Amino acid sequence: MEYMYIAQSAKETAKCKIGKTQNLERRLKEYNAMTGSKNNVYQYLFAGEVKNAGPVEKAVKEKYPHLREEKSREIYFYNAVLFNDYVGFIKAHKLFVKEIIFKSEDKIVKAVKKMPPSLEERGMSKNDVLQKAKKIKNDEFYTRYEDVEKEVLMYDKSIWQDKVIFCNCDDPVDNDEKRTSAFGLYFLRNFEELKVKQLICTHYGGGIDLFNPGGKGYIFTKEGFGEGKQFPPGYTGSFDDPLSLQILREEADIVCTNPPFSKAKEYWKTIIDSGKKFLVISNIANPLTNAYLPYFYANKVWAGYNEVDWYLTPKKELTRAAGHWYTNLPMRDRPKSKNLKILKLKEIPEKYKKHDDNKMLLVDNCYIPGDYKKPFAVSARSILNGLLEKGYILIHDKRYTPYINGKECFARVLVQKT
Ligand SMILES: C[S@@+](CC[C@H](N)C(=O)[O-])C[C@H]1O[C@@H](n2cnc3c(N)ncnc32)[C@H](O)[C@@H]1O
Repeated sequence: MEYMYIAQSAKETAKCKIGKTQNLERRLKEYNAMTGSKNNVYQYLFAGEVKNAGPVEKAVKEKYPHLREEKSREIYFYNAVLFNDYVGFIKAHKLFVKEIIFKSEDKIVKAVKKMPPSLEERGMSKNDVLQKAKKIKNDEFYTRYEDVEKEVLMYDKSIWQDKVIFCNCDDPVDNDEKRTSAFGLYFLRNFEELKVKQLICTHYGGGIDLFNPGGKGYIFTKEGFGEGKQFPPGYTGSFDDPLSLQILREEADIVCTNPPFSKAKEYWKTIIDSGKKFLVISNIANPLTNAYLPYFYANKVWAGYNEVDWYLTPKKELTRAAGHWYTNLPMRDRPKSKNLKILKLKEIPEKYKKHDDNKMLLVDNCYIPGDYKKPFAVSARSILNGLLEKGYILIHDKRYTPYINGKECFARVLVQKT
Protein backbone atom coordinates (compact mmCIF):
# COMPACT_ATOMS: atom_id res chain seq x y z
CA MET A 1 0.00 0.00 0.00
CA GLU A 2 1.15 3.54 -0.65
CA TYR A 3 -0.13 6.65 1.02
CA MET A 4 -0.02 10.40 0.66
CA TYR A 5 -0.23 12.30 3.90
CA ILE A 6 -0.34 15.79 5.31
CA ALA A 7 1.25 15.93 8.77
CA GLN A 8 1.82 18.79 11.15
CA SER A 9 3.78 19.34 14.34
CA ALA A 10 2.00 20.95 17.27
CA LYS A 11 4.57 23.76 17.37
CA GLU A 12 4.53 24.68 13.70
CA THR A 13 0.94 25.24 12.81
CA ALA A 14 1.69 27.58 9.93
CA LYS A 15 3.37 24.73 8.05
CA CYS A 16 2.70 21.14 7.20
CA LYS A 17 4.54 18.25 5.61
CA ILE A 18 3.11 16.69 2.50
CA GLY A 19 4.74 13.41 1.66
CA LYS A 20 4.39 9.82 0.69
CA THR A 21 4.99 6.63 2.63
CA GLN A 22 4.28 2.94 2.64
CA ASN A 23 3.80 2.89 6.38
CA LEU A 24 1.81 5.67 7.99
CA GLU A 25 2.49 4.54 11.54
CA ARG A 26 6.24 4.29 11.07
CA ARG A 27 6.47 7.66 9.33
CA LEU A 28 4.69 9.38 12.21
CA LYS A 29 7.04 7.70 14.69
CA GLU A 30 10.00 8.94 12.69
CA TYR A 31 8.72 12.49 12.78
CA ASN A 32 8.05 12.30 16.50
CA ALA A 33 11.45 10.78 17.16
CA MET A 34 12.90 13.79 15.32
CA THR A 35 11.26 16.34 17.62
CA GLY A 36 11.92 14.14 20.68
CA SER A 37 9.53 16.31 22.68
CA LYS A 38 6.21 15.37 24.21
CA ASN A 39 5.01 18.92 23.65
CA ASN A 40 5.80 18.88 19.99
CA VAL A 41 4.10 15.89 18.50
CA TYR A 42 3.30 15.34 14.88
CA GLN A 43 -0.12 14.22 13.82
CA TYR A 44 -1.73 13.48 10.51
CA LEU A 45 -4.20 16.04 9.25
CA PHE A 46 -4.95 13.90 6.25
CA ALA A 47 -3.88 10.56 4.83
CA GLY A 48 -5.14 8.79 1.76
CA GLU A 49 -4.33 5.57 -0.02
CA VAL A 50 -3.01 6.01 -3.55
CA LYS A 51 -2.16 3.54 -6.27
CA ASN A 52 1.32 4.92 -6.78
CA ALA A 53 2.50 7.70 -4.50
CA GLY A 54 5.45 8.91 -6.64
CA PRO A 55 3.40 10.67 -9.35
CA VAL A 56 0.95 12.08 -6.81
CA GLU A 57 3.77 13.57 -4.74
CA LYS A 58 5.32 14.95 -7.92
CA ALA A 59 2.01 16.49 -8.96
CA VAL A 60 1.67 18.16 -5.53
CA LYS A 61 5.19 19.58 -5.83
CA GLU A 62 4.45 20.93 -9.28
CA LYS A 63 1.12 22.33 -8.30
CA TYR A 64 2.34 24.20 -5.23
CA PRO A 65 5.95 25.26 -5.89
CA HIS A 66 5.20 28.72 -4.47
CA LEU A 67 3.84 27.24 -1.25
CA ARG A 68 6.82 25.00 -0.61
CA GLU A 69 9.47 26.11 1.82
CA GLU A 70 12.71 26.73 -0.03
CA LYS A 71 15.06 24.67 2.12
CA SER A 72 12.95 21.65 2.63
CA ARG A 73 11.16 20.26 -0.36
CA GLU A 74 8.51 18.59 1.74
CA ILE A 75 7.32 21.50 3.87
CA TYR A 76 4.39 23.58 2.69
CA PHE A 77 2.68 26.59 4.09
CA TYR A 78 -0.47 25.84 5.96
CA ASN A 79 -3.77 27.45 6.73
CA ALA A 80 -7.31 26.10 6.60
CA VAL A 81 -7.90 27.29 3.03
CA LEU A 82 -4.59 25.89 1.76
CA PHE A 83 -5.26 22.64 3.58
CA ASN A 84 -8.61 22.29 1.79
CA ASP A 85 -6.85 22.91 -1.46
CA TYR A 86 -4.10 20.35 -0.82
CA VAL A 87 -6.60 17.68 0.19
CA GLY A 88 -8.87 18.46 -2.75
CA PHE A 89 -5.95 18.26 -5.14
CA ILE A 90 -4.70 14.92 -3.79
CA LYS A 91 -8.19 13.47 -3.80
CA ALA A 92 -8.84 14.61 -7.35
CA HIS A 93 -5.69 12.82 -8.59
CA LYS A 94 -6.48 9.84 -10.77
CA LEU A 95 -4.27 7.59 -8.62
CA PHE A 96 -6.13 8.45 -5.43
CA VAL A 97 -7.95 5.45 -3.96
CA LYS A 98 -9.51 6.39 -0.64
CA GLU A 99 -9.31 8.61 2.37
CA ILE A 100 -7.86 7.01 5.50
CA ILE A 101 -7.63 9.92 7.90
CA PHE A 102 -9.09 13.35 7.81
CA LYS A 103 -8.75 15.80 10.65
CA SER A 104 -11.74 18.02 11.13
CA GLU A 105 -12.38 20.43 13.96
CA ASP A 106 -9.71 18.92 16.16
CA LYS A 107 -10.86 15.39 15.93
CA ILE A 108 -9.44 12.80 13.64
CA VAL A 109 -12.15 11.19 11.62
CA LYS A 110 -11.16 7.76 10.46
CA ALA A 111 -12.60 6.73 7.14
CA VAL A 112 -15.38 4.22 7.67
CA LYS A 113 -14.19 0.72 6.92
CA LYS A 114 -16.59 -1.47 5.01
CA MET A 115 -17.44 -4.89 6.34
CA PRO A 116 -16.13 -7.55 3.99
CA PRO A 117 -19.13 -8.80 2.06
CA SER A 118 -20.27 -12.37 2.48
CA LEU A 119 -21.34 -13.34 -0.94
CA GLU A 120 -21.22 -16.93 -2.00
CA GLU A 121 -24.96 -17.14 -1.69
CA ARG A 122 -25.27 -14.27 -4.14
CA GLY A 123 -23.33 -16.09 -6.83
CA MET A 124 -20.78 -13.32 -7.22
CA SER A 125 -17.03 -13.69 -7.24
CA LYS A 126 -15.00 -11.78 -4.68
CA ASN A 127 -13.52 -9.74 -7.46
CA ASP A 128 -16.94 -8.76 -8.85
CA VAL A 129 -17.90 -7.58 -5.41
CA LEU A 130 -14.70 -5.69 -4.77
CA GLN A 131 -15.00 -3.88 -8.08
CA LYS A 132 -18.62 -3.03 -7.47
CA ALA A 133 -18.05 -2.04 -3.86
CA LYS A 134 -15.22 0.25 -4.89
CA LYS A 135 -17.39 1.98 -7.47
CA ILE A 136 -20.21 2.34 -5.00
CA LYS A 137 -17.86 3.70 -2.34
CA ASN A 138 -16.73 6.37 -4.75
CA ASP A 139 -20.34 7.30 -5.36
CA GLU A 140 -21.40 7.50 -1.74
CA PHE A 141 -21.17 11.25 -1.50
CA TYR A 142 -24.50 12.70 -0.55
CA THR A 143 -25.10 16.35 -1.13
CA ARG A 144 -25.76 18.60 1.85
CA TYR A 145 -28.92 20.70 1.90
CA GLU A 146 -26.98 23.91 2.42
CA ASP A 147 -24.92 23.31 -0.71
CA VAL A 148 -28.03 22.93 -2.87
CA GLU A 149 -29.55 26.04 -1.31
CA LYS A 150 -26.39 28.11 -1.68
CA GLU A 151 -26.15 27.33 -5.39
CA VAL A 152 -29.84 27.58 -6.35
CA LEU A 153 -30.16 30.95 -4.63
CA MET A 154 -27.57 32.37 -6.99
CA TYR A 155 -29.82 32.02 -10.05
CA ASP A 156 -32.73 34.17 -11.04
CA LYS A 157 -35.80 32.75 -9.32
CA SER A 158 -37.82 32.92 -12.53
CA ILE A 159 -35.68 30.10 -13.96
CA TRP A 160 -37.71 27.54 -12.00
CA GLN A 161 -41.13 29.01 -12.62
CA ASP A 162 -43.57 26.61 -14.36
CA LYS A 163 -40.77 24.16 -14.90
CA VAL A 164 -40.56 20.42 -14.41
CA ILE A 165 -37.51 19.69 -12.27
CA PHE A 166 -36.02 16.25 -12.60
CA CYS A 167 -33.63 14.90 -9.94
CA ASN A 168 -32.52 11.68 -11.55
CA CYS A 169 -29.56 10.23 -9.64
CA ASP A 170 -30.75 8.59 -6.50
CA ASP A 171 -32.80 11.40 -5.07
CA PRO A 172 -35.22 9.52 -2.82
CA VAL A 173 -38.10 11.27 -1.11
CA ASP A 174 -39.20 9.76 2.17
CA ASN A 175 -41.46 10.77 5.07
CA ASP A 176 -38.27 10.96 7.08
CA GLU A 177 -36.34 13.99 5.86
CA LYS A 178 -33.09 12.30 6.82
CA ARG A 179 -33.75 9.75 4.13
CA THR A 180 -34.69 12.33 1.53
CA SER A 181 -32.07 13.66 -0.86
CA ALA A 182 -31.07 17.28 -0.35
CA PHE A 183 -32.26 18.03 -3.89
CA GLY A 184 -35.69 16.52 -3.27
CA LEU A 185 -35.97 18.30 0.06
CA TYR A 186 -34.88 21.66 -1.28
CA PHE A 187 -37.35 21.68 -4.15
CA LEU A 188 -40.15 20.33 -1.96
CA ARG A 189 -39.61 23.02 0.65
CA ASN A 190 -39.35 25.74 -1.99
CA PHE A 191 -41.96 24.41 -4.39
CA GLU A 192 -44.35 27.31 -3.93
CA GLU A 193 -41.69 29.95 -3.55
CA LEU A 194 -40.04 28.98 -6.85
CA LYS A 195 -43.42 28.35 -8.51
CA VAL A 196 -42.24 24.96 -9.72
CA LYS A 197 -44.72 23.16 -11.97
CA GLN A 198 -43.66 19.63 -11.13
CA LEU A 199 -40.90 17.84 -9.24
CA ILE A 200 -39.83 14.36 -10.30
CA CYS A 201 -37.27 12.50 -8.22
CA THR A 202 -36.03 9.00 -8.88
CA HIS A 203 -34.56 6.57 -6.39
CA TYR A 204 -31.84 4.29 -7.71
CA GLY A 205 -32.36 0.72 -6.62
CA GLY A 206 -28.84 -0.49 -7.27
CA GLY A 207 -26.82 1.61 -4.88
CA ILE A 208 -25.73 0.86 -1.35
CA ASP A 209 -28.43 -1.76 -1.30
CA LEU A 210 -25.80 -3.99 -2.90
CA PHE A 211 -25.62 -6.25 0.13
CA ASN A 212 -29.29 -5.94 1.04
CA PRO A 213 -31.15 -6.40 -2.22
CA GLY A 214 -34.61 -4.98 -1.97
CA GLY A 215 -34.28 -1.22 -2.37
CA LYS A 216 -36.45 -0.89 -5.45
CA GLY A 217 -36.15 1.94 -7.93
CA TYR A 218 -39.07 4.34 -7.85
CA ILE A 219 -40.34 7.61 -9.25
CA PHE A 220 -41.63 10.27 -6.90
CA THR A 221 -43.76 13.04 -8.38
CA LYS A 222 -45.20 16.22 -6.92
CA GLU A 223 -47.49 18.51 -8.85
CA GLY A 224 -49.61 21.10 -7.09
CA PHE A 225 -50.83 19.45 -3.90
CA GLY A 226 -50.70 15.94 -5.32
CA GLU A 227 -47.73 13.74 -4.68
CA GLY A 228 -46.95 10.06 -4.85
CA LYS A 229 -44.54 7.27 -5.68
CA GLN A 230 -44.67 4.78 -8.50
CA PHE A 231 -42.77 1.49 -8.59
CA PRO A 232 -43.02 0.47 -12.26
CA PRO A 233 -42.18 -3.23 -12.72
CA GLY A 234 -38.55 -3.71 -13.70
CA TYR A 235 -37.72 -0.06 -13.13
CA THR A 236 -34.17 0.32 -11.77
CA GLY A 237 -34.14 4.05 -11.09
CA SER A 238 -30.96 4.34 -13.12
CA PHE A 239 -30.63 7.63 -14.97
CA ASP A 240 -30.34 5.58 -18.16
CA ASP A 241 -33.26 3.26 -17.47
CA PRO A 242 -35.62 3.60 -20.49
CA LEU A 243 -38.29 5.13 -18.26
CA SER A 244 -35.87 7.70 -16.78
CA LEU A 245 -34.75 8.57 -20.29
CA GLN A 246 -38.33 9.00 -21.38
CA ILE A 247 -38.99 11.40 -18.49
CA LEU A 248 -35.83 13.28 -19.39
CA ARG A 249 -36.86 13.55 -23.03
CA GLU A 250 -40.58 14.15 -22.70
CA GLU A 251 -41.19 15.81 -19.34
CA ALA A 252 -38.15 17.37 -17.73
CA ASP A 253 -37.23 21.03 -18.17
CA ILE A 254 -34.34 21.29 -15.72
CA VAL A 255 -32.25 18.41 -14.41
CA CYS A 256 -30.68 18.95 -11.03
CA THR A 257 -28.68 16.40 -9.06
CA ASN A 258 -25.31 15.08 -8.00
CA PRO A 259 -24.65 12.08 -10.27
CA PRO A 260 -22.41 9.14 -9.37
CA PHE A 261 -18.76 10.04 -9.90
CA SER A 262 -18.16 6.59 -11.36
CA LYS A 263 -20.64 7.23 -14.18
CA ALA A 264 -20.14 10.95 -14.62
CA LYS A 265 -18.99 10.71 -18.25
CA GLU A 266 -22.04 8.74 -19.34
CA TYR A 267 -24.22 11.02 -17.26
CA TRP A 268 -22.88 14.22 -18.84
CA LYS A 269 -23.34 12.77 -22.31
CA THR A 270 -26.93 11.81 -21.51
CA ILE A 271 -28.00 15.19 -20.18
CA ILE A 272 -26.08 17.28 -22.67
CA ASP A 273 -27.40 15.22 -25.58
CA SER A 274 -30.92 15.66 -24.21
CA GLY A 275 -30.67 19.40 -24.85
CA LYS A 276 -32.30 20.07 -21.45
CA LYS A 277 -31.21 22.65 -18.92
CA PHE A 278 -29.22 21.25 -16.02
CA LEU A 279 -27.50 22.13 -12.78
CA VAL A 280 -25.32 19.32 -11.49
CA ILE A 281 -22.31 18.63 -9.29
CA SER A 282 -19.21 17.04 -10.77
CA ASN A 283 -15.48 16.87 -10.26
CA ILE A 284 -13.64 20.15 -9.91
CA ALA A 285 -11.08 18.99 -12.49
CA ASN A 286 -13.62 18.56 -15.33
CA PRO A 287 -12.44 21.68 -17.21
CA LEU A 288 -9.04 19.94 -17.48
CA THR A 289 -10.29 16.50 -18.39
CA ASN A 290 -10.38 15.42 -22.02
CA ALA A 291 -13.72 13.62 -21.57
CA TYR A 292 -15.46 16.87 -20.57
CA LEU A 293 -13.42 19.55 -22.31
CA PRO A 294 -15.31 19.33 -25.64
CA TYR A 295 -18.47 20.48 -23.84
CA PHE A 296 -16.71 23.52 -22.38
CA TYR A 297 -15.11 24.18 -25.75
CA ALA A 298 -18.50 24.05 -27.50
CA ASN A 299 -20.00 26.27 -24.78
CA LYS A 300 -22.54 23.62 -23.88
CA VAL A 301 -21.64 23.81 -20.20
CA TRP A 302 -19.97 26.26 -17.85
CA ALA A 303 -19.00 26.34 -14.22
CA GLY A 304 -21.77 27.11 -11.75
CA TYR A 305 -21.09 29.47 -8.87
CA ASN A 306 -19.80 27.32 -6.07
CA GLU A 307 -17.35 24.64 -5.19
CA VAL A 308 -18.71 21.73 -3.17
CA ASP A 309 -16.12 20.38 -0.75
CA TRP A 310 -18.20 18.63 1.85
CA TYR A 311 -20.60 15.74 1.50
CA LEU A 312 -22.28 13.22 3.76
CA THR A 313 -21.51 9.53 3.92
CA PRO A 314 -24.39 7.05 4.15
CA LYS A 315 -23.75 7.21 7.91
CA LYS A 316 -24.25 10.98 7.74
CA GLU A 317 -20.65 11.72 8.60
CA LEU A 318 -18.94 14.57 6.84
CA THR A 319 -16.51 13.62 4.13
CA ARG A 320 -14.59 15.65 1.58
CA ALA A 321 -14.40 15.53 -2.18
CA ALA A 322 -13.45 18.15 -4.70
CA GLY A 323 -16.71 18.97 -6.47
CA HIS A 324 -18.09 21.96 -8.33
CA TRP A 325 -21.41 22.94 -9.81
CA TYR A 326 -21.76 22.88 -13.58
CA THR A 327 -24.66 24.19 -15.58
CA ASN A 328 -26.06 25.53 -18.82
CA LEU A 329 -28.42 27.90 -17.01
CA PRO A 330 -27.96 31.62 -17.53
CA MET A 331 -25.68 33.12 -14.89
CA ARG A 332 -25.95 36.41 -13.10
CA ASP A 333 -22.79 38.16 -11.95
CA ARG A 334 -20.16 35.64 -10.97
CA PRO A 335 -18.62 36.73 -7.66
CA LYS A 336 -15.66 34.39 -8.18
CA SER A 337 -14.57 36.32 -11.28
CA LYS A 338 -12.99 38.75 -8.81
CA ASN A 339 -10.38 36.06 -8.22
CA LEU A 340 -9.10 36.56 -11.76
CA LYS A 341 -6.17 38.94 -11.73
CA ILE A 342 -6.19 40.43 -15.21
CA LEU A 343 -3.03 42.52 -15.56
CA LYS A 344 -0.55 43.48 -18.22
CA LEU A 345 1.89 40.63 -18.79
CA LYS A 346 4.79 42.66 -17.44
CA GLU A 347 2.88 43.35 -14.22
CA ILE A 348 2.36 39.66 -13.43
CA PRO A 349 4.87 38.56 -10.76
CA GLU A 350 7.70 36.53 -12.29
CA LYS A 351 7.00 33.43 -10.24
CA TYR A 352 3.52 33.13 -11.73
CA LYS A 353 4.53 33.27 -15.39
CA LYS A 354 6.90 31.08 -17.32
CA HIS A 355 7.40 29.64 -20.77
CA ASP A 356 7.49 25.94 -21.45
CA ASP A 357 9.71 24.07 -23.89
CA ASN A 358 7.28 25.01 -26.74
CA LYS A 359 7.57 28.67 -25.77
CA MET A 360 3.96 28.61 -24.62
CA LEU A 361 3.23 31.11 -21.86
CA LEU A 362 1.96 29.48 -18.65
CA VAL A 363 0.34 31.64 -16.01
CA ASP A 364 -0.57 30.51 -12.52
CA ASN A 365 -2.53 31.64 -9.52
CA CYS A 366 -5.34 33.06 -11.70
CA TYR A 367 -3.12 35.77 -13.17
CA ILE A 368 -4.28 36.60 -16.71
CA PRO A 369 -2.15 38.64 -19.12
CA GLY A 370 -4.78 41.08 -20.38
CA ASP A 371 -2.56 42.51 -23.11
CA TYR A 372 -1.37 39.16 -24.46
CA LYS A 373 -2.82 38.27 -27.86
CA LYS A 374 -1.36 34.78 -28.35
CA PRO A 375 -2.66 31.56 -26.77
CA PHE A 376 -1.51 30.85 -23.22
CA ALA A 377 -2.10 28.12 -20.68
CA VAL A 378 -4.15 28.39 -17.49
CA SER A 379 -5.28 26.00 -14.77
CA ALA A 380 -8.84 24.77 -14.23
CA ARG A 381 -9.21 27.33 -11.47
CA SER A 382 -9.25 30.23 -13.97
CA ILE A 383 -11.99 28.51 -15.96
CA LEU A 384 -14.00 27.89 -12.79
CA ASN A 385 -13.60 31.56 -11.95
CA GLY A 386 -15.30 32.50 -15.21
CA LEU A 387 -12.42 33.35 -17.56
CA LEU A 388 -14.48 32.20 -20.55
CA GLU A 389 -16.99 34.96 -19.77
CA LYS A 390 -14.30 37.63 -19.86
CA GLY A 391 -13.59 37.62 -23.58
CA TYR A 392 -11.41 34.50 -23.65
CA ILE A 393 -12.03 31.24 -25.49
CA LEU A 394 -10.62 27.77 -25.19
CA ILE A 395 -8.58 27.11 -28.26
CA HIS A 396 -8.56 23.29 -28.07
CA ASP A 397 -10.95 20.69 -26.85
CA LYS A 398 -8.05 18.76 -25.35
CA ARG A 399 -6.01 19.64 -22.34
CA TYR A 400 -2.49 20.94 -22.66
CA THR A 401 0.43 19.24 -20.93
CA PRO A 402 3.46 21.52 -20.72
CA TYR A 403 7.05 20.36 -20.41
CA ILE A 404 9.81 22.47 -18.93
CA ASN A 405 13.36 21.25 -19.55
CA GLY A 406 11.80 17.99 -20.68
CA LYS A 407 9.96 17.59 -17.37
CA GLU A 408 6.19 17.20 -17.47
CA CYS A 409 4.26 19.88 -15.58
CA PHE A 410 0.68 19.70 -14.42
CA ALA A 411 -1.95 19.91 -17.14
CA ARG A 412 -3.70 23.09 -18.15
CA VAL A 413 -5.91 24.38 -20.95
CA LEU A 414 -5.04 26.79 -23.71
CA VAL A 415 -7.02 30.01 -23.93
CA GLN A 416 -6.81 33.11 -26.06
CA LYS A 417 -8.31 36.56 -25.99
CA THR A 418 -10.92 37.03 -28.69
C1 LIG B 1 -22.86 11.27 -5.53
S1 LIG B 1 -24.24 10.34 -4.98
C2 LIG B 1 -25.47 11.56 -4.87
C3 LIG B 1 -26.79 11.11 -4.39
C4 LIG B 1 -27.86 12.20 -4.42
N1 LIG B 1 -28.18 12.58 -5.77
C5 LIG B 1 -27.35 13.41 -3.66
O1 LIG B 1 -27.03 14.40 -4.28
O2 LIG B 1 -27.27 13.33 -2.43
C6 LIG B 1 -24.60 9.48 -6.46
C7 LIG B 1 -25.72 8.49 -6.29
O3 LIG B 1 -26.02 7.94 -7.57
C8 LIG B 1 -26.35 6.58 -7.39
N2 LIG B 1 -26.17 5.91 -8.67
C9 LIG B 1 -25.20 5.03 -9.04
N3 LIG B 1 -25.42 4.63 -10.29
C10 LIG B 1 -26.55 5.25 -10.71
C11 LIG B 1 -27.30 5.20 -11.91
N4 LIG B 1 -26.92 4.45 -12.94
N5 LIG B 1 -28.41 5.97 -11.99
C12 LIG B 1 -28.81 6.74 -10.97
N6 LIG B 1 -28.14 6.81 -9.80
C13 LIG B 1 -27.04 6.06 -9.68
C14 LIG B 1 -25.42 6.12 -6.29
O4 LIG B 1 -25.95 4.98 -5.67
C15 LIG B 1 -25.40 7.34 -5.37
O5 LIG B 1 -26.44 7.23 -4.45
